[in-house]
Amino acid sequence: MAFFEWTPRLSVGIDSVDRQHRLLINYINELDDAVAQGRGSAVLKGMLERLRNYTRVHFAYEEAMFQVYRYEEANDHAHAHHAFVGMIEDCERRHARGENNVGDELLKYLKSWLSDHILIEDKTYAEVLIPRGAR
Ligand SMILES: [Fe+2]
Ligand SMILES: [Fe+2]
Repeated sequence: MAFFEWTPRLSVGIDSVDRQHRLLINYINELDDAVAQGRGSAVLKGMLERLRNYTRVHFAYEEAMFQVYRYEEANDHAHAHHAFVGMIEDCERRHARGENNVGDELLKYLKSWLSDHILIEDKTYAEVLIPRGAR
């Protein structure tokens, strides 16, 4: 069983967003596999970078949707996004300094943050924007 299993409960009802969430979950699982296999620092660096880049792409996608459909909670939601990217960047900096910080605790944090964010904040915007035409 994967470390972070995608289940239909995580669906927000917008296919494009669900696909992006599944990809983010895959990246977290691959990071978990790499840590479990004791892969080297360069591999983890590349994986954190890929996770950060795709996280940014996904967040920008959601935030563009907030503009198009005039989502009232856009600012608060974007702040939460910003904080998560900051957290990944902080890990990357610590990793670059040679701290052995990509471990179970970080992986559990990434998993719980993303799953809570999808279940609460993302589902909330989807419920508001789907009736306005978001697909
Ligand atoms: Fe979000
Ligand atoms: Fe999301």
